[in-house]
Amino acid sequence: MPTLNEIRSTFLNFFEKNDHRIVESSPLVPRNDPTLMFTNSGMVQFKNCFTGVEHRDYKRATTSQKCVRAGGKHNDLDNVGYTARHHTFFEMLGNFSFGDYFKEQAIPYAWDLLTKDFGLDKSKLLVTVYHTDDEAADIWKKYAGLSDDRIIRIATDDNFWSMGATGPCGPCTEIFYDHGPEIWGGPPGSAEEDGDRFIEIWNLVFMQNERFEDGTQRDLDMQSIDTGMGLERIGALLQGKHDNYDTDLMRSLIEASAHVTSQDPDGPGNVHHRVIADHLRSTSFLIADGVMPSNEGRGYVLRRIMRRAMRHAHQLGAKDPVMHQLVPALVTQMGQAFPELGRAQTLIEETLKLEETRFKQTLDRGLRLLDEELSDLPEGAALAGETAFKLYDTYGFPLDLTQDALREKGREVDTQGFDAAMAEQKAKARAAWSGTGEAADASVWFDIAEASGTTDFLGYDTEKAEGQIIALVREGGQTDRAEKGTTLQIVLNQTPFYAESGGQVGDKGMLRTESGTARITDTKKAAGLFIHIAEVTDGVISKGQAAQLEVDHARRTAIRANHSATHLLHEALRNALGDHVAQRGSLNAEDRLRFDFSHSKALSAEELKRVGEEVNTYIRQNAPVETRIMTPDDARELGAQALFGEKYGDEVRVVSMGLEEGSGKGLDGQTYSLELCGGTHVRQTGDIGVFVATSDQASSAGVRRIEALTGQAAFDHLSEQARRIEALAGELKAKPEDVVIRVKTLMDERKALSNEVAQLRRELAMAGGAGQGAGPEAKEIAGVRFLAQVMTGVSGKDLPALIDEHKSRLESGAVLLIADTGDKVAVAAGVTDDLTDKVSAVDLVKAAVAELGGKGGGGRPDMAQGGGKDAANADAAIKAAEGVLTP
Ligand code: ALA
Repeated sequence: MPTLNEIRSTFLNFFEKNDHRIVESSPLVPRNDPTLMFTNSGMVQFKNCFTGVEHRDYKRATTSQKCVRAGGKHNDLDNVGYTARHHTFFEMLGNFSFGDYFKEQAIPYAWDLLTKDFGLDKSKLLVTVYHTDDEAADIWKKYAGLSDDRIIRIATDDNFWSMGATGPCGPCTEIFYDHGPEIWGGPPGSAEEDGDRFIEIWNLVFMQNERFEDGTQRDLDMQSIDTGMGLERIGALLQGKHDNYDTDLMRSLIEASAHVTSQDPDGPGNVHHRVIADHLRSTSFLIADGVMPSNEGRGYVLRRIMRRAMRHAHQLGAKDPVMHQLVPALVTQMGQAFPELGRAQTLIEETLKLEETRFKQTLDRGLRLLDEELSDLPEGAALAGETAFKLYDTYGFPLDLTQDALREKGREVDTQGFDAAMAEQKAKARAAWSGTGEAADASVWFDIAEASGTTDFLGYDTEKAEGQIIALVREGGQTDRAEKGTTLQIVLNQTPFYAESGGQVGDKGMLRTESGTARITDTKKAAGLFIHIAEVTDGVISKGQAAQLEVDHARRTAIRANHSATHLLHEALRNALGDHVAQRGSLNAEDRLRFDFSHSKALSAEELKRVGEEVNTYIRQNAPVETRIMTPDDARELGAQALFGEKYGDEVRVVSMGLEEGSGKGLDGQTYSLELCGGTHVRQTGDIGVFVATSDQASSAGVRRIEALTGQAAFDHLSEQARRIEALAGELKAKPEDVVIRVKTLMDERKALSNEVAQLRRELAMAGGAGQGAGPEAKEIAGVRFLAQVMTGVSGKDLPALIDEHKSRLESGAVLLIADTGDKVAVAAGVTDDLTDKVSAVDLVKAAVAELGGKGGGGRPDMAQGGGKDAANADAAIKAAEGVLTP
């Protein structure tokens, strides 16, 4: 009996033998389709190959595509566990031709694989074709030898397959297996077709048309093939089982569930085991593809599936979290075909464990409340919507979990009442929301969020994705279209653009639709929406259009490096300065980073050096940067740095980087930096390249600010510095390594020279000043020897020393010196000690200053100074001083 893994290989190998390229399954979050919540069939990744927009280097492909049908249009969640063939996660086997072979080849391939390689009994097979498709019917008849009664023509959309309201589509032919008359049911198209006797196993779509929004349809330029066969179904058939959950793979997961809960796999808890086995697959694959549990969008679908499984585990009597204990069994089964599972194993286990630990805290109380409410409820009555809402709001019970719990008791929920309670809460939130902009502005965003839901952020994993335009806003109001030259705000249902928050700037980039192009100059956030500030550069952009979004890669790369470096810097500062260091603000832009932190004095050169070295050491360590979602309390317990005074929601993103033995932080106790952060980060610390701090200054009282560069900008900065040193060395005629000592020597020489110059100036001045002939003569006034002199080339600072020199030469007398410095005049006077009780130097200066257009002047009786403006009045000033001496 072939295992599911063997059946998958047989399928892929069959088509590889027939010149098909084996292509990897695409991620569960579609990168190229904004209308899909999850990848739900094999053709999703090839959508644009069928329409001719995209070309690959192969024309034939085969895949085993991971699919999730939960949330969105195809939602099988409610049925899982209770039926034989519903899954939230399944694999779709498919073969594809892009304008290569068509029906004439697709049908023979399918027939050969089923009847030869898989060895199915020909007599058990029958097919359907689209009612007008004579060609397909003919091929079945000729190649497979099927009689007319086993080629059933169907006129409905059941045999015209389309991806959705728009996109590639075409008639299809479906292959059915007849389980025999012992099982109730009728052939397709009959009244009993929903029975279990005839089971569809393979759908072959003849892609030849494309549908548009306005309902029109065109013929595609080329005819293509898209087929889909559920691995679990064909597996059940080939293993002789009627129930997909009895296949080897599903059975091993059910047994693992039975093992960890110590409950009989086939006992009364069988439904619970089936739910757990299915949900284990979808949750694990979703987490491996980057979805994290949250309260919105895809993250909320994941959370709903997880919690549903956890309630079923609880019903089995599990006291401790069980889901994470099952991951190894899943990796054993599927890790080889899907290596991403193994790579994400730790993340999957941690995420499941944290979610289950946390949900257990309210699950018991919620179920008790539910039981109490039910015991008071009359037979058959529905549970009040308000109670379901309370379970949702207070106990974290998604609505479908409550419905699932009631299903076992044959009850329903009043969903209208639930919706009303939800609407009331939203209205309250809206009233309480103060908003970031003006009130009128804010209400636009609320209207959009209420009408179309919030924006899903894809930018942690990708920089390119498709989104659907849910609103265009111009000058505060909504509009349907915007033409070239218009500046406006664009809101999409999903986007890879990061919206400014947590110090990280918003992304820039391009947006393209089939009719126009816009440049995105910034991205902001309001009411859960990502608002793209845009300028239409070409054509027209319309509401409802699908748009290709592309983030400016180089810019985002630089922002990422700066943001991750900020985390390393934060940790290095704490290590260098102490635990009082806490983040007070930050900016992570494309050209630099800025980090404000509590610390009251400037960093010493030694501290700055240590911080820079430590950051660069952890960059070179090139350790992976990891992200997890957990509760704020759990995060703090692990030692995460949280922003002081910041409000956090129910769950936080925790970013860890660097390996530090014995740090005691993180799940491994070896994490260097652990912070709560919603930003985008490098994959490995080595991606930061290099870090260099460019300034450390005071930002406000008790807060310092460091600015720094990373990567190319840091390198450019360092190169520029090196170039300056080269230039300096050239000027100094020294080697670059000698410039410091050379400059120091020059500075010493300069000091010595300027001392020498000052001395020479004094000597020159004593001799009468430059170009002034012989030294001045003293004259006698009222018995006092008085010497007066006007000088140039001397500064006011030089005067006291000159006064002293003159006084000692005179032995007894008074001196007045006037220095003409060009724009000003400095005056000094001196009186030898023996005369100070007769004449005061202060009086001499004052008299002179008054003539020179200055004011005041002062000092001691033996030495005084002052200043003026009019050097032309120097003679009058000397006269005035002489007047002071004259009795
Ligand atoms: N795309 C087709 C399907 O999903 C094959 O059934």
